[in-house]
Amino acid sequence: MNTLSHSLDQVVTANYSGPTLTIDTQKITKQVALFKYALPNVTPHYAVKANPLPEVLRHLHSLGVGFEIASQGELSLLQSLGIPAHKIIFSNPIKTPASIIAAVDYGVKYFAFDNPEELIKLHQLAPEAQYELRISTNGKGSVWPLTKKFGVDVKQAIKLIGVAHHNQIKISALTFHVGSQCTQSQAWLTALKDCEKIIQYMNKRSMRLNMLNIGGGFPCALHSHGQSFKELMNPVRSALKLFKQKTNVEVCAEPGRFLVASSGTLACQIISTTQKNHQPWAFLDCGYYNGLMELTEDFGYQLRSKRTGENIPWTIAGPTCDSVDCFTPKYHLPKNSQAGDVITIDNMGAYAHTCVSNFNGFDGPSILIKH
Ligand SMILES: Cc1ncc(COP(=O)(O)O)c(C=O)c1O
Repeated sequence: MNTLSHSLDQVVTANYSGPTLTIDTQKITKQVALFKYALPNVTPHYAVKANPLPEVLRHLHSLGVGFEIASQGELSLLQSLGIPAHKIIFSNPIKTPASIIAAVDYGVKYFAFDNPEELIKLHQLAPEAQYELRISTNGKGSVWPLTKKFGVDVKQAIKLIGVAHHNQIKISALTFHVGSQCTQSQAWLTALKDCEKIIQYMNKRSMRLNMLNIGGGFPCALHSHGQSFKELMNPVRSALKLFKQKTNVEVCAEPGRFLVASSGTLACQIISTTQKNHQPWAFLDCGYYNGLMELTEDFGYQLRSKRTGENIPWTIAGPTCDSVDCFTPKYHLPKNSQAGDVITIDNMGAYAHTCVSNFNGFDGPSILIKH
């Protein structure tokens, strides 16, 4: 993957040389400021998975943002950039022993879990660490729910805390994730209520938490949900203020998409157009495997073309031979679109090049960094 320094304009003209993702770091600065404005008492730990480009990580570090990791690879990356251990939270509830040992050696303190086996593993390999219990959410209001794989409900959480208490293992934090691109404040309020029930149970037994981690899911400006980010977060901020007064627990979050999505604009090209069953199809040089995975869901991405004229719905497909590489939601393009047209897509700074494989020999987009 190349890291070049050009402007977006050069890409969308005749000099097209393959799919390119332009990252504008000033837009990241803006998002960090907006996050801090909307949720002033919440410490952001950026979810590295959203976009692990070193330039992005360095930039976030320079803005004072902490980090959330899921693997030893992400840990090594942060280490190579000199990010100190106290800025890092290990929030994947399932971890390899080697990754736990490496994180402990580096001095990482917080580790997530959601089952007794992982808690015991942590207790053996990271006895001095702080354990963060992941609570499940219902995923309502999010485009990409994270309900199936991780988290326990209140009843199971209390059982798990009981087991920990019995074995003299201290639980230091609670965490949850409302699902990615969540546009309903109620999702955070419901999860917060669940956490309060658990905290009440703990307090009655003289168990104290140090931290509440409200995870990620904060939406980028894709869907018009009729509210600004500040408005969406108003009820959450008020609820957290009350929560802090009642519990005196520190609050952090793990925004991924929100901080980086708007920084990224992807330019790609139509390779071919055709009609199937009287419906227009456009095949792009970028698809499910090499940058556009999220087009499979209805996130609200819009394809932009320099052509003018009537916009109509098209079926969009990528360049590989796999039929997964063809998107169910329809996207609008001008009716007269043709092979060779350059298409640009905004809000591609998160989960675009991160999820790239070079299946069938199609590489991910080149990267341009704009400062
Ligand atoms: C544990 C954890 N934290 C934070 C995030 C970031 O989520 P988002 O990009 O929706 O903010 C994720 C994403 O999957 C996650 O798994």
